[in-house]
Amino acid sequence: MRYLTFALAKGRLAEQTMDLLERIGMPCEEMKEKSRKLIFVNEDLKLKIFLAKTSDVPTYVEHGAADIGVVGKDTIMEENRNIYEMLDLGLGKCRMCVAGLPEMKDKIHKCHSLRVATKYPNIAREYFYHQMHQTVEIIKLNGSVELAPIVGLSDCIVDIVESGATLKENGLVVFEEICPLSARIVVNRVSMKMERERIIDVMDKIRGLLKEDLK
Ligand code: PRP
Repeated sequence: MRYLTFALAKGRLAEQTMDLLERIGMPCEEMKEKSRKLIFVNEDLKLKIFLAKTSDVPTYVEHGAADIGVVGKDTIMEENRNIYEMLDLGLGKCRMCVAGLPEMKDKIHKCHSLRVATKYPNIAREYFYHQMHQTVEIIKLNGSVELAPIVGLSDCIVDIVESGATLKENGLVVFEEICPLSARIVVNRVSMKMERERIIDVMDKIRGLLKEDLK
């Protein structure tokens, strides 16, 4: 039997995913120990689990270096890889939004060259160009995007809103919701054919747990 390989997005989501995997009989204790190790092998179950930078998870899955990936919908949309999105885990629920200073709320669609700061240039471009049919200037940032409208770098931002605390504490408001987000299981297209039974079995077990948790 070949190894079934999982790529998990490092951080809180990986920890929550490990809890789920443990509950379906895939031990992850070794991974939970604080260390710099990135890949874990379970010889008995013929499993490999590795931790990757969030934005790289779809890449590993597309190329077949991982059969299965667990990653946020935001990353799936931004990376736009040729992978199969199989299951919504309902973890890490949040929203992709357009936000900014309250005085800009009614002006953003009237601006001729709206400056949009974001960590998600592809999602922002898709939204403004293709859904709003509006020409905008995308300014790519790598974090603390909420700063951009405050210091005059942009007219608005496209970013994740979870609790809304970061916006509120910085005097910003949501203008529009682009889409809801949550963690998803993605699968390599070839693995889906070659390892169909094992993958379906894992999905069914996880689906069962999610249903149980809802009760
Ligand atoms: C994310 C996101 C927002 C914030 C939203 O940033 O980009 O800034 O969390 O969460 P909230 O609505 O609960 O306040 P992250 O913490 O990943 O840091 P970063 O901005 O440095 O990327």
